[in-house]
Amino acid sequence: MRKHAERKPRSLMGRLWRWHTKFCPGWKGYQKQITAGEDGESVTLGERTLRLRRAPVEQIIQLRHDVIITGTDRTTDAFDDDTSPTTRHYGAFDGDQCVGCLSLMLTQEGGNSSWRLRGMATPLEMRGQGVGRALIDYVQRDLANTSSVQALWCSARLGAVAFYEKVGWQREGDEYDVPGVGMHVKMIAGEES
Ligand SMILES: CC(C)(COP(=O)(O)OP(=O)(O)OC[C@H]1O[C@@H](n2cnc3c(N)ncnc32)[C@H](O)[C@@H]1OP(=O)(O)O)[C@@H](O)C(=O)NCCC(=O)NCCS
Repeated sequence: MRKHAERKPRSLMGRLWRWHTKFCPGWKGYQKQITAGEDGESVTLGERTLRLRRAPVEQIIQLRHDVIITGTDRTTDAFDDDTSPTTRHYGAFDGDQCVGCLSLMLTQEGGNSSWRLRGMATPLEMRGQGVGRALIDYVQRDLANTSSVQALWCSARLGAVAFYEKVGWQREGDEYDVPGVGMHVKMIAGEES
C-alpha cells in the first residue's frame, strides 16, 4: 500500500494510506525503530565509523540549519512537506552527532512520481572525506530496496554541481536563480552505483 501511495500520492489509496499513518500502530512502531537507529548501514571513512540511516527530522535539522539555511534569506529551517508521511530524512551519524544529512520529498510531474532531494549537507570540517558520497549511495540503495519510485533529482546550488557530477548525476536544463539563495540547476541521479 505504501509503495502504491508513493507512486500515486493523490490516488484514493494514497490518501487512505496517509490517513492511516496518523493512528496505525505498525507505522508508529516503524517510526520508533527509525528513531532508535536500528535501521541503516555502517561505513568506515578514515578513522571514523559512521551510521547511515533514516532519521527523524529533529536529528538532522541542526546541520541543515548550519549549512543550508544560514547565510540565505530563508526565515525557517523547515521545508514544505518535512512532516509529510511520505517524506524521508537521512543522516550520517558519528555516535549521536549528525555529520551528513539530506531529505527526500515525493513529487509529481505529468503523472510521474519522483523523489526530490533537498538539504544535502556535511559540516565544513568534514568535507571531501566521502560522507556525502556514502550518504547518496546509501539512499539510492535504500530506494532500490524499499520504494517503487527510483527517479531522484535535486535543484543544485552551482557550488555543489561538481559534487553531484562526481556521484554520477547529470545536469538538466538551464541554470536559474532562486531568490535569496543563488543560482541553481536541476540535476538528475544516475543509476545506483
Ligand atoms: C555538497 C556537499 C554535501 C558534499 O559533501 P562531501 O561530504 O564533501 O562530499 P564527498 O567528500 O563525498 O565528495 C565526493 C566527491 O565530490 C567532490 N566534491 C565534494 N564537494 C564538492 C564541491 N563543492 N565542488 C567540487 N567537488 C566536490 C569531492 O572532492 C569528492 O571527489 P573524489 O571522489 O574525487 O574524491 C558538501 O560540500 C556541502 O555540505 N556543501 C555545502 C552545502 C551544499 O552546497 N549542499 C548542496 C545543496 S544543493
